[in-house]
Amino acid sequence: MDKILVTGGCGYIGSHTIVDLVQNGFDVISIDNNGRSNEAILDGVEKIVHRKIKNYKVDLCSYDDTYAVFQENPGIKGIIHFAAYKAVGESVEKPLLYFENNLGSLINILKCAEEFNVPHFVFSSSCTVYGNPDTMVVTEETPQKPAESPYGATKQMGERIVNDTVKNSGISAILLRYFNPVGAHPSIHIGELPIGRPANLVPAITQTAIGKLPTMHVHGTDYDTRDGSCVRDYVHVCDIAHAHTLALNYLLAHKNETPCDIFNLGTGNGNTVLEVIAAFEKVSGIKLNYQLGPRRPGDVVAIYANNNKAKTGLGWNPKYSVDDMMDSAWKWEVKLKTDENIFNRQNAGLN
Ligand code: WQD
Repeated sequence: MDKILVTGGCGYIGSHTIVDLVQNGFDVISIDNNGRSNEAILDGVEKIVHRKIKNYKVDLCSYDDTYAVFQENPGIKGIIHFAAYKAVGESVEKPLLYFENNLGSLINILKCAEEFNVPHFVFSSSCTVYGNPDTMVVTEETPQKPAESPYGATKQMGERIVNDTVKNSGISAILLRYFNPVGAHPSIHIGELPIGRPANLVPAITQTAIGKLPTMHVHGTDYDTRDGSCVRDYVHVCDIAHAHTLALNYLLAHKNETPCDIFNLGTGNGNTVLEVIAAFEKVSGIKLNYQLGPRRPGDVVAIYANNNKAKTGLGWNPKYSVDDMMDSAWKWEVKLKTDENIFNRQNAGLN
């Protein structure tokens, strides 16, 4: 079995991707310092795949500690690099923390990839690299506008660092630009574990519905959209996870036409905030206690993916609907409430 290193393996998308990789025949190890994640999530992964996943509790900003993991694991065939801070608002308040962590860890993992001749590299990027695009539907060739936040800037710079590195190193790479990953694995053994008050829409909805938050606000209803609220391309985290397996197989089969290929990972459908709330209310049977509030600075009005390249190139066909996304997100929130001891014990002070 090809051995794959997943950085950020205890995170939301990382843990779901490990499940998909193992179910598709890969041997996986994780590097995650658990500074913003919870190693207990790998117990959930183990319940799904019936195999223990080794996590190296290492800070990727330490080159020596990262190097030691590669020394202990010769023959790694591919790296999927998720590990990064991702809170847009925090990045505005603490830009240097984001540049140091997100770019420092990326540079170290790429140095090790070169040192240990790892042939394939998949980078976790984001639709945020498009900034505030002139068109609502974006392709991989849509010109990038200035990033709306330091977080977005680390994704733009990260793509450039990967692209320029692999040109001269014989590594083949793929940049995966996620739109809005939401939902939880259908088994409800794993899901999203937001730290503190969630900034993202779906955990804000489910935490309000379960009573963890008193209410939530719709950030703006006066936009030029069909109901005045912002449009996004919500995509189930399991569809995102499977795209990583497809991306690795694409690279292992040497199908890549350039040293660094780019793919949008969105469903190609746009939904407004109010439509997502309506879908949640429909599948949960709960009337959500929300309020209409002012716009959130930095928000893009509307963006969703042209995903033809991922469909034809990777053979990726996202299969979950917005109702599926809301249903699994809600079931996960209910599970967190009933199994609080599992995650709160590990999460002390994290939320
Ligand atoms: C979606 C919509 C909000 C919360 C960001 C990053 C992206 C990725 C996902 C990391 C917006 C509205 C939200 C709330 C609301 N990050 N909203 N009330 O901003 O599209 O994307 O997070 O992987 O890279 O840019 O996601 O979920 O924060 O917001 O009305 O309580 O929901 O205004 O219109 P976003 P989001």
